Amino acid sequence: MKLDRRQLLRGLGAAGLTSAAGATSLLARPGAMPELAPRPPVPAGQAHDWHFAAAERPAHLLGPDGPSTTVWTYSDDLMPVKRIRLGDTIRARLENRLGEHTAIHWHGIRLPNAMDGVPFLTQPPVNKGQSFLYEFAPPDPGTFFFHPHCNESGQTGRGMAGVLIIEGDERRHADADLVVAYKDWRLAEDGTWLAFETPEGASRAGTYGTVRAVNGVAPTHHAVPAGGDVRLRVLNLDSTRVIEVGIDGAEAAAIAIDGNAVTPFPLDTWRMGPAMRIDLLVRAPAPGKSFKVIDYFSSEPWTLGTYEAKGPARPARVFDPAILFKAALPRADLGNAERMSFSFSAASGSVADAAAALAPDDPLANILLDGLCVRDNSFWAINKASWASDQHRQLPPPLGVLTTGRSYVFELMNATPHHHPIHLHGHTFEVLSASRLKRPRHFADTVLLQPKERIEIAFVAAEGNWMFHCHVLEHLEYGMMGYLRIS
Ligand code: C2O
Ligand code: CU
Repeated sequence: MKLDRRQLLRGLGAAGLTSAAGATSLLARPGAMPELAPRPPVPAGQAHDWHFAAAERPAHLLGPDGPSTTVWTYSDDLMPVKRIRLGDTIRARLENRLGEHTAIHWHGIRLPNAMDGVPFLTQPPVNKGQSFLYEFAPPDPGTFFFHPHCNESGQTGRGMAGVLIIEGDERRHADADLVVAYKDWRLAEDGTWLAFETPEGASRAGTYGTVRAVNGVAPTHHAVPAGGDVRLRVLNLDSTRVIEVGIDGAEAAAIAIDGNAVTPFPLDTWRMGPAMRIDLLVRAPAPGKSFKVIDYFSSEPWTLGTYEAKGPARPARVFDPAILFKAALPRADLGNAERMSFSFSAASGSVADAAAALAPDDPLANILLDGLCVRDNSFWAINKASWASDQHRQLPPPLGVLTTGRSYVFELMNATPHHHPIHLHGHTFEVLSASRLKRPRHFADTVLLQPKERIEIAFVAAEGNWMFHCHVLEHLEYGMMGYLRIS
């Protein structure tokens, strides 16, 4: 099915789609897309004071008439969408009313290390009854999200996640701007949670949800302006599932990856592991017609949303998806970059072994397992080291020691038969090359390593202790996590 669609699209070419839409498209000729215009300087904006009370709340995840589920959320909104402008400052107070410690990690944002939200590494854990103030001005516009960074499968699995949109990348506004946040729920039929982790899942591709959902609920219909340009911000916020997004029924272009503007290219499909985002611009069809966002990675294509064109017909006009300013990001000096290699593999040792070296009633055994946010076993490793597998009373050594301001090229190698979306905190890297999946060169904060794939990324090192891990939550919790020390 996946192949069929790609072959079909290749055969058609963008021109085929264009004539169906009845207007010309700047995507019709490969290489014809002009470079994006640079973004003008942005003045300082306003401050946003947010209060996030992490707590248990009731929600109906199995439909309005279904049973109630106890979710864990930051606010009364399930998966809130926060929008600010580039130049604005976020002042978010996290108050913890849960029975376990938590924190907020601002995924993909280049921020000061102390605001990165990793318990034990960048801040003390926020225990029950405590609070923590995050204050920073995001330097880049785009589509981001936030989530906790300890007991991730349990906390995110119960709903702790939110979308963060930083506006200000638009040279021209889209006619509609919609969030498509994909995330499954792992629920029994009576609305209670199933185990978020299973040994079978954790040691392989991960444990899948039982209820597929978009923006927290079952996929729905949305109205979009007929003939208008619709910006879809697609986020894969699932703990486990890889999706491959395509648009059926309209011409579409990719305009940003992980929030970073790219020279638009025609979308056939885009494969996304957990934590990855893509912004699309879709030319809505004529009144009464609709288009769908589809996951082609599932065994059967699965619809994430149906978008019905409403309102008066518009005269045909050129589809020009270059609505964004060019991303303004530090670019590695490839000629002088230092090279480092990272191999993502199955574990050789295990935390269970490390804990077993202590007497079973030694309280340190629990501190070890709880304090370093690991489970009682390790299945995965980066450069043969499993997160916290060797160190009992302190953080494990970093995976790499880097120099602030220096350029680096990382070679990422997947020695497993599974997908691993690899994420580096606090940086936006350039994906230079990949051995298996063809992708244009682009900026990202998370890149999907296909089974046995080799990928090169480059970046300029920013000061701090930055986590570097797979974003399949059970993979990071069972060892495929580490950090870089940059000073
Ligand atoms: Cu969303 Cu450590 O990451
Ligand atoms: Cu992984």
